[in-house]
Amino acid sequence: MTSIEEAYCPEAFRRQGHAIVEMLADRLSQSISGKQAQVVELTDPATAMSEIHDLFSRFTASDGNDLTELFSSIYSRSIRLHHPRYLGHQISPPLPVSALASLMSDLLNNGMGVFEMGIGGTVAERFVIKSLAKKIGFGEHADGFLTSGGTLGNLTALLAARRAKAQNDVWKNGSGNRLALMVSDQAHYCIDKAARVMGWGDEGILLIPSGNSFSMDVTALEGKFAAARAKGLEVIAVVGSACSTATGSFDDLGAISAFCQSHDLWFHVDGAHGAATVYSSEFRDRVEGIHLADSVTMDFHKLLMTPALATAVVFREGRFAAQNFAQKADYLWKDAHQEDEWHDLARRTFECTKSMVSLKVFTILAMYGEAIFEQNVTTLYRSAILFAELIDTQPDFELATTPQSNIVCFRYTTPRAEVDLNELNRTVRARLIADGEFYLVQTVINETAWLRCTVANPFTRREHFTQLLETVRRVAREIVG
Ligand SMILES: Cc1ncc(COP(=O)(O)O)c(C=O)c1O
Repeated sequence: MTSIEEAYCPEAFRRQGHAIVEMLADRLSQSISGKQAQVVELTDPATAMSEIHDLFSRFTASDGNDLTELFSSIYSRSIRLHHPRYLGHQISPPLPVSALASLMSDLLNNGMGVFEMGIGGTVAERFVIKSLAKKIGFGEHADGFLTSGGTLGNLTALLAARRAKAQNDVWKNGSGNRLALMVSDQAHYCIDKAARVMGWGDEGILLIPSGNSFSMDVTALEGKFAAARAKGLEVIAVVGSACSTATGSFDDLGAISAFCQSHDLWFHVDGAHGAATVYSSEFRDRVEGIHLADSVTMDFHKLLMTPALATAVVFREGRFAAQNFAQKADYLWKDAHQEDEWHDLARRTFECTKSMVSLKVFTILAMYGEAIFEQNVTTLYRSAILFAELIDTQPDFELATTPQSNIVCFRYTTPRAEVDLNELNRTVRARLIADGEFYLVQTVINETAWLRCTVANPFTRREHFTQLLETVRRVAREIVG
Protein backbone atom coordinates (compact mmCIF):
# COMPACT_ATOMS: atom_id res chain seq x y z
CA MET A 1 0.00 0.00 0.00
CA THR A 2 1.26 3.49 -0.86
CA SER A 3 1.74 5.64 2.23
CA ILE A 4 0.40 9.19 2.51
CA GLU A 5 4.00 10.44 2.58
CA GLU A 6 4.82 8.63 -0.68
CA ALA A 7 1.65 9.95 -2.35
CA TYR A 8 2.63 13.54 -1.51
CA CYS A 9 6.34 13.04 -2.38
CA PRO A 10 7.62 16.17 -4.21
CA GLU A 11 10.33 14.15 -6.04
CA ALA A 12 7.77 11.70 -7.39
CA PHE A 13 5.69 14.70 -8.51
CA ARG A 14 8.74 16.14 -10.30
CA ARG A 15 9.37 12.82 -12.10
CA GLN A 16 5.74 12.23 -12.99
CA GLY A 17 5.26 15.85 -14.03
CA HIS A 18 8.17 15.71 -16.46
CA ALA A 19 6.91 12.46 -17.95
CA ILE A 20 3.35 13.76 -18.30
CA VAL A 21 4.44 17.02 -19.93
CA GLU A 22 6.59 14.99 -22.37
CA MET A 23 3.63 12.80 -23.24
CA LEU A 24 1.23 15.75 -23.59
CA ALA A 25 3.66 17.79 -25.70
CA ASP A 26 4.08 14.85 -28.11
CA ARG A 27 0.34 14.38 -28.36
CA LEU A 28 -0.18 18.12 -28.82
CA SER A 29 2.29 18.17 -31.68
CA GLN A 30 0.50 15.24 -33.36
CA SER A 31 -2.82 17.03 -33.00
CA ILE A 32 -1.78 20.50 -34.15
CA SER A 33 0.07 19.15 -37.18
CA GLY A 34 -2.91 16.95 -38.08
CA LYS A 35 -0.58 13.90 -38.15
CA GLN A 36 -2.91 12.25 -35.68
CA ALA A 37 -5.34 10.64 -38.12
CA GLN A 38 -8.47 10.99 -36.03
CA VAL A 39 -9.96 13.85 -34.06
CA VAL A 40 -11.98 11.41 -32.01
CA GLU A 41 -12.43 7.65 -31.77
CA LEU A 42 -16.14 7.47 -31.23
CA THR A 43 -17.67 4.76 -29.07
CA ASP A 44 -21.28 4.36 -28.12
CA PRO A 45 -22.04 4.64 -24.40
CA ALA A 46 -22.83 0.92 -24.02
CA THR A 47 -19.51 -0.22 -25.55
CA ALA A 48 -17.68 2.44 -23.56
CA MET A 49 -19.18 1.10 -20.36
CA SER A 50 -17.88 -2.37 -21.18
CA GLU A 51 -14.58 -1.98 -23.05
CA ILE A 52 -13.28 1.29 -21.64
CA HIS A 53 -14.68 0.54 -18.24
CA ASP A 54 -12.86 -2.83 -18.24
CA LEU A 55 -9.63 -1.13 -19.21
CA PHE A 56 -9.98 1.47 -16.49
CA SER A 57 -10.89 -1.21 -13.97
CA ARG A 58 -7.49 -2.77 -14.52
CA PHE A 59 -5.93 0.48 -13.29
CA THR A 60 -8.03 0.58 -10.14
CA ALA A 61 -7.44 -3.10 -9.36
CA SER A 62 -4.01 -2.33 -7.92
CA ASP A 63 -2.11 0.77 -6.84
CA GLY A 64 1.27 1.98 -8.05
CA ASN A 65 0.23 2.23 -11.73
CA ASP A 66 2.27 4.11 -14.27
CA LEU A 67 0.78 7.62 -14.45
CA THR A 68 1.87 8.18 -18.06
CA GLU A 69 0.20 4.94 -19.11
CA LEU A 70 -2.97 5.90 -17.24
CA PHE A 71 -3.11 9.39 -18.76
CA SER A 72 -2.26 8.07 -22.24
CA SER A 73 -5.17 5.69 -22.12
CA ILE A 74 -7.52 8.54 -21.12
CA TYR A 75 -6.06 10.84 -23.78
CA SER A 76 -6.68 8.27 -26.50
CA ARG A 77 -10.31 8.15 -25.50
CA SER A 78 -10.84 11.92 -25.53
CA ILE A 79 -11.66 14.37 -28.28
CA ARG A 80 -8.70 16.45 -29.52
CA LEU A 81 -9.59 20.14 -29.64
CA HIS A 82 -6.17 21.16 -30.99
CA HIS A 83 -6.70 19.12 -34.13
CA PRO A 84 -7.35 21.32 -37.20
CA ARG A 85 -10.24 19.03 -38.16
CA TYR A 86 -12.00 19.68 -34.84
CA LEU A 87 -14.96 21.84 -35.90
CA GLY A 88 -17.50 20.99 -33.24
CA HIS A 89 -18.87 22.66 -30.16
CA GLN A 90 -17.88 26.13 -29.00
CA ILE A 91 -14.88 25.41 -26.87
CA SER A 92 -11.32 26.64 -27.37
CA PRO A 93 -8.19 24.54 -27.74
CA PRO A 94 -6.42 25.84 -24.62
CA LEU A 95 -3.03 27.48 -24.72
CA PRO A 96 -0.41 25.32 -22.99
CA VAL A 97 0.52 28.10 -20.53
CA SER A 98 -3.09 28.35 -19.50
CA ALA A 99 -3.20 24.59 -18.88
CA LEU A 100 -0.08 24.99 -16.74
CA ALA A 101 -1.88 27.73 -14.81
CA SER A 102 -4.67 25.21 -14.17
CA LEU A 103 -2.11 22.77 -12.83
CA MET A 104 -0.79 25.38 -10.44
CA SER A 105 -4.28 26.39 -9.40
CA ASP A 106 -5.11 22.76 -8.68
CA LEU A 107 -2.00 22.19 -6.66
CA LEU A 108 -2.45 25.36 -4.63
CA ASN A 109 -6.20 24.75 -4.30
CA ASN A 110 -6.81 28.20 -2.83
CA GLY A 111 -10.48 28.43 -1.95
CA MET A 112 -10.82 32.03 -3.23
CA GLY A 113 -14.07 32.68 -1.35
CA VAL A 114 -12.37 35.12 0.98
CA PHE A 115 -9.32 37.25 0.29
CA GLU A 116 -6.93 35.48 2.66
CA MET A 117 -7.75 32.15 0.96
CA GLY A 118 -6.42 33.32 -2.40
CA ILE A 119 -4.58 36.63 -2.34
CA GLY A 120 -2.75 36.19 -5.66
CA GLY A 121 -5.80 34.72 -7.38
CA THR A 122 -8.08 37.49 -6.10
CA VAL A 123 -5.83 40.29 -7.35
CA ALA A 124 -5.43 38.44 -10.68
CA GLU A 125 -9.22 38.21 -10.93
CA ARG A 126 -9.56 41.92 -10.33
CA PHE A 127 -7.02 42.58 -13.07
CA VAL A 128 -8.85 40.32 -15.54
CA ILE A 129 -12.25 41.87 -14.80
CA LYS A 130 -11.03 45.45 -14.98
CA SER A 131 -9.18 44.90 -18.25
CA LEU A 132 -12.21 43.19 -19.83
CA ALA A 133 -14.50 45.99 -18.59
CA LYS A 134 -12.23 48.53 -20.27
CA LYS A 135 -12.19 46.53 -23.49
CA ILE A 136 -16.00 46.40 -23.47
CA GLY A 137 -15.97 50.17 -23.17
CA PHE A 138 -17.40 50.44 -19.66
CA GLY A 139 -16.36 53.36 -17.44
CA GLU A 140 -14.43 53.37 -14.19
CA HIS A 141 -17.39 52.18 -12.06
CA ALA A 142 -17.55 48.86 -13.85
CA ASP A 143 -16.82 45.73 -11.89
CA GLY A 144 -17.69 42.05 -11.76
CA PHE A 145 -16.31 38.60 -11.07
CA LEU A 146 -15.34 35.28 -12.61
CA THR A 147 -17.63 32.31 -12.26
CA SER A 148 -18.19 28.75 -13.43
CA GLY A 149 -19.67 28.90 -16.91
CA GLY A 150 -21.91 31.07 -19.03
CA THR A 151 -25.04 29.37 -17.72
CA LEU A 152 -24.29 30.35 -14.15
CA GLY A 153 -22.97 33.75 -15.25
CA ASN A 154 -26.24 34.59 -17.04
CA LEU A 155 -28.32 33.45 -14.08
CA THR A 156 -26.24 35.60 -11.72
CA ALA A 157 -26.58 38.66 -13.98
CA LEU A 158 -30.34 38.13 -14.21
CA LEU A 159 -30.59 37.89 -10.44
CA ALA A 160 -28.94 41.31 -10.34
CA ALA A 161 -31.49 42.53 -12.89
CA ARG A 162 -34.30 41.30 -10.66
CA ARG A 163 -32.81 43.00 -7.64
CA ALA A 164 -32.35 46.27 -9.52
CA LYS A 165 -35.64 46.44 -11.43
CA ALA A 166 -38.40 44.35 -9.81
CA GLN A 167 -40.83 46.39 -7.72
CA ASN A 168 -40.80 43.77 -4.99
CA ASP A 169 -37.58 42.88 -3.16
CA VAL A 170 -37.77 39.16 -4.00
CA TRP A 171 -34.51 38.39 -2.19
CA LYS A 172 -36.08 39.61 1.06
CA ASN A 173 -39.81 39.05 0.70
CA GLY A 174 -40.01 36.06 -1.63
CA SER A 175 -41.91 36.08 -4.90
CA GLY A 176 -44.23 39.00 -5.60
CA ASN A 177 -45.33 40.10 -9.08
CA ARG A 178 -45.23 37.81 -12.10
CA LEU A 179 -41.85 38.72 -13.58
CA ALA A 180 -40.63 38.24 -17.15
CA LEU A 181 -37.76 38.94 -19.51
CA MET A 182 -37.60 39.29 -23.28
CA VAL A 183 -35.07 37.45 -25.44
CA SER A 184 -34.71 36.32 -29.06
CA ASP A 185 -36.04 32.91 -30.06
CA GLN A 186 -32.44 32.07 -31.05
CA ALA A 187 -31.04 32.62 -27.54
CA HIS A 188 -29.17 29.88 -25.70
CA TYR A 189 -31.46 27.69 -23.60
CA CYS A 190 -29.73 28.77 -20.39
CA ILE A 191 -31.69 32.06 -20.44
CA ASP A 192 -34.92 30.07 -20.37
CA LYS A 193 -33.41 27.94 -17.62
CA ALA A 194 -32.47 31.03 -15.58
CA ALA A 195 -36.00 32.44 -15.77
CA ARG A 196 -37.44 29.10 -14.66
CA VAL A 197 -34.92 28.72 -11.83
CA MET A 198 -36.08 32.14 -10.63
CA GLY A 199 -39.63 30.77 -10.57
CA TRP A 200 -41.05 32.74 -13.50
CA GLY A 201 -42.41 29.69 -15.35
CA ASP A 202 -43.56 29.53 -18.98
CA GLU A 203 -44.91 33.06 -19.03
CA GLY A 204 -41.63 34.50 -17.72
CA ILE A 205 -39.78 34.11 -21.03
CA LEU A 206 -41.13 36.26 -23.83
CA LEU A 207 -39.57 35.10 -27.08
CA ILE A 208 -38.95 37.77 -29.69
CA PRO A 209 -38.88 36.37 -33.24
CA SER A 210 -35.63 36.49 -35.14
CA GLY A 211 -35.34 37.99 -38.61
CA ASN A 212 -33.63 36.76 -41.77
CA SER A 213 -30.12 36.54 -40.40
CA PHE A 214 -31.32 34.95 -37.13
CA SER A 215 -30.86 38.20 -35.17
CA MET A 216 -33.63 39.49 -32.91
CA ASP A 217 -36.33 41.44 -34.74
CA VAL A 218 -36.12 44.47 -32.45
CA THR A 219 -39.21 46.03 -34.02
CA ALA A 220 -41.23 43.29 -32.27
CA LEU A 221 -40.09 44.35 -28.77
CA GLU A 222 -42.62 47.16 -28.31
CA GLY A 223 -45.69 45.06 -29.14
CA LYS A 224 -44.58 42.10 -27.03
CA PHE A 225 -43.85 44.39 -24.10
CA ALA A 226 -47.26 46.08 -24.27
CA ALA A 227 -49.05 42.72 -24.56
CA ALA A 228 -47.17 41.33 -21.55
CA ARG A 229 -48.03 44.35 -19.44
CA ALA A 230 -51.66 44.08 -20.45
CA LYS A 231 -51.59 40.50 -19.11
CA GLY A 232 -50.28 41.76 -15.75
CA LEU A 233 -46.65 40.72 -16.20
CA GLU A 234 -43.84 42.88 -14.89
CA VAL A 235 -41.15 42.78 -17.58
CA ILE A 236 -37.82 43.69 -16.04
CA ALA A 237 -35.14 42.88 -18.62
CA VAL A 238 -34.17 42.28 -22.23
CA VAL A 239 -31.35 39.87 -23.04
CA GLY A 240 -29.36 40.48 -26.21
CA SER A 241 -27.51 37.54 -27.75
CA ALA A 242 -23.96 38.32 -28.80
CA CYS A 243 -23.99 35.97 -30.46
CA SER A 244 -26.68 33.28 -30.69
CA THR A 245 -25.63 29.67 -30.33
CA ALA A 246 -27.02 27.94 -33.42
CA THR A 247 -25.82 30.33 -36.13
CA GLY A 248 -23.56 32.75 -34.24
CA SER A 249 -25.73 35.77 -35.16
CA PHE A 250 -25.48 39.04 -33.26
CA ASP A 251 -28.50 41.00 -32.04
CA ASP A 252 -28.55 44.76 -32.59
CA LEU A 253 -27.27 45.74 -29.14
CA GLY A 254 -27.62 49.50 -29.71
CA ALA A 255 -31.31 49.14 -30.62
CA ILE A 256 -32.02 46.87 -27.63
CA SER A 257 -30.28 49.34 -25.34
CA ALA A 258 -32.42 52.20 -26.66
CA PHE A 259 -35.57 50.14 -26.03
CA CYS A 260 -34.45 49.29 -22.49
CA GLN A 261 -33.66 52.89 -21.70
CA SER A 262 -37.03 54.09 -22.89
CA HIS A 263 -38.82 51.56 -20.63
CA ASP A 264 -36.40 51.53 -17.69
CA LEU A 265 -35.50 47.86 -18.22
CA TRP A 266 -32.27 46.02 -17.43
CA PHE A 267 -30.20 45.26 -20.52
CA HIS A 268 -28.16 42.09 -20.24
CA VAL A 269 -25.87 40.84 -23.00
CA ASP A 270 -25.34 37.10 -23.20
CA GLY A 271 -21.91 37.34 -24.75
CA ALA A 272 -20.85 33.90 -23.54
CA HIS A 273 -19.61 33.16 -27.03
CA GLY A 274 -19.20 36.43 -28.89
CA ALA A 275 -18.46 39.19 -26.37
CA ALA A 276 -14.85 38.20 -27.05
CA THR A 277 -15.31 40.05 -30.37
CA VAL A 278 -14.40 43.21 -28.41
CA TYR A 279 -10.79 42.03 -28.74
CA SER A 280 -10.82 42.15 -32.56
CA SER A 281 -10.52 45.60 -34.10
CA GLU A 282 -11.49 44.09 -37.46
CA PHE A 283 -14.78 42.61 -36.23
CA ARG A 284 -15.61 44.78 -33.23
CA ASP A 285 -18.49 46.45 -35.05
CA ARG A 286 -20.46 43.21 -34.57
CA VAL A 287 -20.86 44.09 -30.88
CA GLU A 288 -21.50 47.79 -31.37
CA GLY A 289 -23.46 49.03 -28.35
CA ILE A 290 -22.17 46.38 -25.92
CA HIS A 291 -20.87 49.18 -23.65
CA LEU A 292 -24.48 50.29 -23.12
CA ALA A 293 -25.43 47.03 -21.40
CA ASP A 294 -26.05 46.86 -17.67
CA SER A 295 -24.32 43.49 -17.56
CA VAL A 296 -22.33 41.27 -19.89
CA THR A 297 -21.47 37.58 -19.57
CA MET A 298 -18.41 36.30 -21.45
CA ASP A 299 -16.76 32.86 -21.52
CA PHE A 300 -12.99 32.89 -21.88
CA HIS A 301 -13.23 29.17 -22.69
CA LYS A 302 -15.17 29.67 -25.92
CA LEU A 303 -13.02 31.96 -28.07
CA LEU A 304 -10.09 32.92 -25.91
CA MET A 305 -7.93 29.78 -25.60
CA THR A 306 -8.64 29.25 -21.92
CA PRO A 307 -9.46 25.89 -20.32
CA ALA A 308 -13.08 25.61 -19.12
CA LEU A 309 -14.69 26.94 -17.07
CA ALA A 310 -13.70 30.59 -17.07
CA THR A 311 -16.58 33.05 -17.29
CA ALA A 312 -16.66 36.76 -16.58
CA VAL A 313 -19.76 38.68 -15.52
CA VAL A 314 -19.16 42.41 -15.81
CA PHE A 315 -21.54 45.17 -14.69
CA ARG A 316 -21.45 48.71 -16.05
CA GLU A 317 -22.17 49.82 -12.48
CA GLY A 318 -20.07 47.58 -10.29
CA ARG A 319 -22.28 48.09 -7.23
CA PHE A 320 -24.80 45.65 -8.74
CA ALA A 321 -22.20 42.88 -8.51
CA ALA A 322 -21.70 43.62 -4.85
CA GLN A 323 -25.41 43.95 -3.97
CA ASN A 324 -26.56 40.76 -5.60
CA PHE A 325 -26.29 38.33 -2.73
CA ALA A 326 -26.84 40.05 0.61
CA GLN A 327 -25.92 37.25 2.96
CA LYS A 328 -24.43 36.77 6.33
CA ALA A 329 -21.74 34.14 6.80
CA ASP A 330 -20.18 34.60 10.20
CA TYR A 331 -17.37 32.17 9.52
CA LEU A 332 -16.32 34.12 6.42
CA TRP A 333 -17.15 37.78 7.03
CA LYS A 334 -18.95 39.88 9.61
CA ASP A 335 -21.41 42.13 7.83
CA ALA A 336 -23.69 41.43 4.90
CA HIS A 337 -23.50 44.79 3.06
CA GLN A 338 -20.31 46.46 1.90
CA GLU A 339 -20.74 47.53 -1.66
CA ASP A 340 -17.34 49.00 -2.30
CA GLU A 341 -15.50 46.00 -0.99
CA TRP A 342 -13.90 43.95 -3.74
CA HIS A 343 -11.73 41.38 -2.07
CA ASP A 344 -14.05 38.73 -0.57
CA LEU A 345 -15.21 37.24 -3.86
CA ALA A 346 -17.79 34.81 -2.45
CA ARG A 347 -19.99 37.80 -1.64
CA ARG A 348 -20.58 38.21 -5.37
CA THR A 349 -20.87 34.69 -6.70
CA PHE A 350 -22.96 31.57 -6.37
CA GLU A 351 -19.79 29.69 -5.53
CA CYS A 352 -18.40 29.72 -2.03
CA THR A 353 -15.21 27.77 -2.67
CA LYS A 354 -13.98 28.63 -6.17
CA SER A 355 -10.91 27.42 -8.07
CA MET A 356 -8.26 30.02 -8.95
CA VAL A 357 -9.93 30.46 -12.31
CA SER A 358 -8.39 33.89 -12.78
CA LEU A 359 -4.93 32.34 -13.14
CA LYS A 360 -5.87 30.69 -16.43
CA VAL A 361 -6.74 34.04 -18.01
CA PHE A 362 -4.24 36.20 -16.17
CA THR A 363 -1.40 33.92 -17.27
CA ILE A 364 -2.36 34.38 -20.92
CA LEU A 365 -2.49 38.16 -20.49
CA ALA A 366 0.82 38.20 -18.62
CA MET A 367 2.61 36.04 -21.18
CA TYR A 368 1.18 37.36 -24.45
CA GLY A 369 -1.01 40.40 -23.74
CA GLU A 370 -4.44 41.11 -25.23
CA ALA A 371 -2.80 40.92 -28.68
CA ILE A 372 -3.09 37.12 -28.58
CA PHE A 373 -6.87 37.39 -28.05
CA GLU A 374 -7.09 39.81 -30.96
CA GLN A 375 -5.11 37.40 -33.18
CA ASN A 376 -7.26 34.42 -32.28
CA VAL A 377 -10.68 36.04 -32.67
CA THR A 378 -9.70 37.74 -35.94
CA THR A 379 -8.16 34.55 -37.36
CA LEU A 380 -11.18 32.41 -36.48
CA TYR A 381 -13.70 34.90 -37.86
CA ARG A 382 -11.72 35.25 -41.08
CA SER A 383 -11.53 31.46 -41.39
CA ALA A 384 -15.31 31.20 -41.01
CA ILE A 385 -15.76 33.75 -43.81
CA LEU A 386 -13.36 31.79 -46.01
CA PHE A 387 -15.22 28.56 -45.29
CA ALA A 388 -18.56 30.19 -46.14
CA GLU A 389 -17.13 31.53 -49.40
CA LEU A 390 -16.00 28.03 -50.34
CA ILE A 391 -19.46 26.65 -49.55
CA ASP A 392 -21.06 29.38 -51.63
CA THR A 393 -19.12 28.35 -54.72
CA GLN A 394 -20.42 24.76 -54.55
CA PRO A 395 -23.85 24.31 -56.18
CA ASP A 396 -24.65 21.23 -54.08
CA PHE A 397 -24.10 23.02 -50.77
CA GLU A 398 -26.23 25.60 -49.02
CA LEU A 399 -25.45 28.04 -46.18
CA ALA A 400 -28.01 28.74 -43.44
CA THR A 401 -26.78 32.33 -43.31
CA THR A 402 -23.60 34.32 -43.89
CA PRO A 403 -21.51 33.75 -40.77
CA GLN A 404 -21.15 36.71 -38.42
CA SER A 405 -18.77 34.95 -36.05
CA ASN A 406 -16.83 31.67 -36.22
CA ILE A 407 -19.97 29.51 -36.46
CA VAL A 408 -20.94 28.19 -39.90
CA CYS A 409 -24.15 26.24 -40.60
CA PHE A 410 -24.47 24.53 -43.99
CA ARG A 411 -25.87 21.43 -45.63
CA TYR A 412 -25.54 19.18 -48.62
CA THR A 413 -28.39 19.43 -51.10
CA THR A 414 -29.55 17.50 -54.11
CA PRO A 415 -32.32 18.30 -56.57
CA ARG A 416 -33.68 14.74 -56.19
CA ALA A 417 -37.12 15.32 -54.70
CA GLU A 418 -37.32 11.87 -53.05
CA VAL A 419 -34.33 12.62 -50.79
CA ASP A 420 -35.14 13.84 -47.29
CA LEU A 421 -32.37 16.43 -46.85
CA ASN A 422 -32.73 16.58 -43.07
CA GLU A 423 -32.30 12.85 -42.77
CA LEU A 424 -29.46 12.83 -45.30
CA ASN A 425 -27.44 15.52 -43.51
CA ARG A 426 -27.99 13.86 -40.13
CA THR A 427 -26.75 10.55 -41.53
CA VAL A 428 -23.76 12.21 -43.15
CA ARG A 429 -22.79 13.77 -39.85
CA ALA A 430 -23.16 10.47 -38.01
CA ARG A 431 -20.95 8.74 -40.61
CA LEU A 432 -18.33 11.50 -40.44
CA ILE A 433 -17.90 11.45 -36.71
CA ALA A 434 -17.93 7.65 -36.65
CA ASP A 435 -14.94 7.79 -39.02
CA GLY A 436 -13.40 10.33 -36.66
CA GLU A 437 -11.53 12.22 -39.35
CA PHE A 438 -13.64 15.32 -38.66
CA TYR A 439 -15.70 16.41 -35.71
CA LEU A 440 -18.67 18.66 -36.40
CA VAL A 441 -22.13 18.96 -34.87
CA GLN A 442 -25.65 19.51 -36.13
CA THR A 443 -28.52 21.83 -35.34
CA VAL A 444 -32.13 22.26 -36.33
CA ILE A 445 -33.44 25.72 -37.21
CA ASN A 446 -37.08 26.13 -38.13
CA GLU A 447 -37.32 22.39 -38.76
CA THR A 448 -34.34 22.33 -41.12
CA ALA A 449 -31.33 20.24 -40.08
CA TRP A 450 -27.92 21.83 -40.66
CA LEU A 451 -24.36 20.67 -40.28
CA ARG A 452 -22.82 23.07 -37.81
CA CYS A 453 -19.13 23.96 -37.51
CA THR A 454 -17.46 26.15 -34.95
CA VAL A 455 -14.09 27.19 -36.33
CA ALA A 456 -12.44 26.96 -32.95
CA ASN A 457 -8.93 26.28 -34.06
CA PRO A 458 -6.46 28.74 -35.61
CA PHE A 459 -4.77 25.76 -37.33
CA THR A 460 -7.83 24.97 -39.44
CA ARG A 461 -7.03 26.17 -42.95
CA ARG A 462 -8.49 26.24 -46.45
CA GLU A 463 -7.32 22.67 -47.22
CA HIS A 464 -9.22 21.31 -44.21
CA PHE A 465 -12.43 23.07 -45.28
CA THR A 466 -12.04 21.80 -48.84
CA GLN A 467 -11.41 18.31 -47.57
CA LEU A 468 -14.49 18.51 -45.33
CA LEU A 469 -16.75 19.54 -48.22
CA GLU A 470 -15.34 16.77 -50.41
CA THR A 471 -15.90 14.23 -47.65
CA VAL A 472 -19.47 15.38 -47.01
CA ARG A 473 -20.22 15.19 -50.73
CA ARG A 474 -18.69 11.71 -51.11
CA VAL A 475 -20.53 10.32 -48.08
CA ALA A 476 -23.83 11.94 -49.10
CA ARG A 477 -23.56 10.46 -52.61
CA GLU A 478 -22.79 7.02 -51.18
CA ILE A 479 -25.93 7.28 -49.04
CA VAL A 480 -28.31 8.42 -51.75
CA GLY A 481 -26.77 6.05 -54.30
C1 LIG B 1 -24.81 32.21 -26.26
C2 LIG B 1 -24.50 31.22 -25.18
N1 LIG B 1 -24.82 31.52 -23.91
C3 LIG B 1 -24.55 30.67 -22.89
C4 LIG B 1 -23.94 29.46 -23.12
C5 LIG B 1 -23.68 28.55 -21.97
O1 LIG B 1 -22.35 28.66 -21.60
P1 LIG B 1 -21.61 27.53 -20.70
O2 LIG B 1 -21.56 26.31 -21.56
O3 LIG B 1 -20.28 28.13 -20.40
O4 LIG B 1 -22.46 27.34 -19.48
C6 LIG B 1 -23.59 29.10 -24.43
C7 LIG B 1 -22.97 27.80 -24.70
O5 LIG B 1 -22.79 27.37 -25.79
C8 LIG B 1 -23.87 30.01 -25.48
O6 LIG B 1 -23.56 29.73 -26.75
